[in-house]
Amino acid sequence: MYVEWRVVGRGIMSESIDIRTEKLSKHFGNIRALVDLDLEVRRGSTFGFLGPNGAGKTTTVRILSGLLRATSGDATVCGYNIHKQRDEIKTVTGLLPEAPGLYSKLSAVEFLEFIGALNDLAGEMVRKRIDRLLDLLGLEGRQDDLLESYSSGMKQKVLVASTVLHEPRLVFLDEPTSRLDPAASALVKELILVMAKEVETTFFICTHMTDFAEDVCEIIGILNEGVLTTLGPPSTIVDNVGARDLEEAYLKIVGGEVDRTKLLAWRK
Ligand SMILES: Nc1ncnc2c1ncn2[C@@H]1O[C@H](COP(=O)(O)OP(=O)(O)OP(=O)(O)O)[C@@H](O)[C@H]1O
Ligand SMILES: [Mg+2]
Repeated sequence: MYVEWRVVGRGIMSESIDIRTEKLSKHFGNIRALVDLDLEVRRGSTFGFLGPNGAGKTTTVRILSGLLRATSGDATVCGYNIHKQRDEIKTVTGLLPEAPGLYSKLSAVEFLEFIGALNDLAGEMVRKRIDRLLDLLGLEGRQDDLLESYSSGMKQKVLVASTVLHEPRLVFLDEPTSRLDPAASALVKELILVMAKEVETTFFICTHMTDFAEDVCEIIGILNEGVLTTLGPPSTIVDNVGARDLEEAYLKIVGGEVDRTKLLAWRK
C-alpha cells in the first residue's frame, strides 16, 4: 500500500522543501539498507520515520546528515547536495544520533558550552540559552555535576538540549524519547511542536513510538527492509487500513503478530 500525499492549495514552492531525495540507496555488501528512496519533507514540518528494527531509518538519517555516503541516488538537504556539500549540511542541521557519545568528565553546562562553541555560539547569549534549556528539561540544580553521574534519561535530556541549542533549521532526531520518562517525552513533544510552529524548524524523527509519532508528525513514512512502503498523514494511513490508531495500522502494514506457539520453542 502506498498513500500518496500532495500539498494542494498554496502549493509547494521548491525552496520550501528542506529534504528531497531521488532514488537514494545504500548497500552494505549484500545488505540493501535503503532502496530507491524518493521523499520530500517540507520546511517547518515534522516528518516521522517508522519501521522495524533494521529497516534502514538510521542509515537514512546518517546519509542525510552528511555522516555516511550513499551508494547511489541523490538528495538535497536545506538546498545542499549530500555528495558535494556535506560540511554545509552539518552547519544548518542538528542531529540527535541513535547511540550518541558524551564527554562524561564534563558537566552538563560545560558540555553544552562546548557544543555551542562548535557552532560558533559563545558568551552571555549561549549561557542564557543553556540555563533556559536545562531549566526546561528539569536539570536545574544538577547542571554543574559531571555527566558520568547522570542517569541515562538525564543524559538523553542533555543530548536533546545540545541538538537544538544552535537553533538549526533542520533537526534529525533518531529515537528522541528512548530512555525518557513520560513527562520528559511529553516535554520533548511540545518542544518539537513549538519549534516547528514558531521558528519553522523542520524535524525528521525516527521513532518506534507510534503514539508519539501520531501526536507530533504531520507526515509519516513507513520503511520496511529499506523500502518506503507507506507515506501520508497519520490519519490517512489509519483510515486507509481501517485501523483504530497508528499502532494498529503499523502492525497491519508491516506485520508483527506474535506466534504464541513459538514462544517457548527454544526450550524444546
Ligand atoms: N555500518 C554498517 N555495516 C554493515 N551493515 C550495516 C551498517 N549499518 C547498518 N547496517 C545494516 O543496514 C540495515 C539497516 O540498519 P539501520 O541501523 O539503518 O536500521 P534502523 O531502521 O535504524 O533499525 P533500528 O530500529 O533497530 O534502529 C541493517 O540490516 C543493518 O545491519
Ligand atoms: Mg536505528
